Amino acid sequence: MQALQAALEKLEEVKDLHTLEELRLLVLGKKGLLAHAFAGLKELEQEEKTRYAQELNRFKESFSTLHAQKKQALQALELQVRLEAEKIDVSLANTHSGGSLGHPLNYTKERIITHFTQRGFKLHLGALVEDDFHNFSALNIPPHHPARAMQDTFYFKDHKLLRTHTSPSQIHAMQTQTPPIKMIAVGHTFRRDYDTTHTPMFSQVEGLVVDTGVHFGHLKQVLEEFLNAFFGSVKVRWRSSFFPFTEPSAEVDMSCVFCQQKGCKVCKNTGWLEVLGAGLVHPEVFKNVGLEGMQGYAFGLGIERLAMLSCEINDLRSFFETDLRMLEAF
Ligand code: DAH
Repeated sequence: MQALQAALEKLEEVKDLHTLEELRLLVLGKKGLLAHAFAGLKELEQEEKTRYAQELNRFKESFSTLHAQKKQALQALELQVRLEAEKIDVSLANTHSGGSLGHPLNYTKERIITHFTQRGFKLHLGALVEDDFHNFSALNIPPHHPARAMQDTFYFKDHKLLRTHTSPSQIHAMQTQTPPIKMIAVGHTFRRDYDTTHTPMFSQVEGLVVDTGVHFGHLKQVLEEFLNAFFGSVKVRWRSSFFPFTEPSAEVDMSCVFCQQKGCKVCKNTGWLEVLGAGLVHPEVFKNVGLEGMQGYAFGLGIERLAMLSCEINDLRSFFETDLRMLEAF
């Protein structure tokens, strides 16, 4: 009982929440003083046991009440101290030097747009809601293709869908303009995906050039120039690949900007980073838009991917959280 009484006196004097919690555990915790005292009851005679048990219960009640009051008071005090410390004097002069570059995604997007528009590519934005023809069929994506499945694409009731890539902009451009066409389309795209490297909404840049005599060499020159302008001097590697809407198709890798090809986590020790897809426009695609026999090239790249590589950000999801500390790093 003496120890309990001492704890009650201590409770009166507690000045911070941490000590308060320590004291609560000491008294009311599973292995605390009270539990110990209650356990000792069984060794007492019946009469004394009852009296002592009542005393312990009374103690428990007063301790709990006092503890609750103390906690409330200390919390209020702590809040007051914090508010005082975090007070912002809005009349002070702004010491924030320089402006912000904006959100890393917008910053990256603007850099890409500037690069291509300065080289004569016309900027298209395109609609986010597309139909099956523009998003799939016209791009030679067959009916059984996995991208068409419900688990990959967001569909609306009336056969409309949220575009899964910016490639439908190619189709719109070729349907509404006569060659030569030289365009980029930039904007949001949507897929049913969510993990550290996928978010349901992401953004892409699509490039399309249609003209007689356009060949793979033009494509190669345009993209290698872009990667070198964007990342500084990099090596570029072309790997043959497959996309339904291009033939031949290629995936483009650049030398790892993090380790200069010495091998690191980002490039998975390969020294190469995959950055975009590209190819010559498939004859079927030209046929679908009434431009049989025409030549052209197309390419597609993910803005988040380029932003992660150029701004050295390693979790895709941090782009979509509004954490000022991360934004201020730019
Ligand atoms: N649409 C492709 C995707 O979302 C990207 C792409 C690859 C676009 C190759 C192209 C291309 O225009 O030629 O994964």
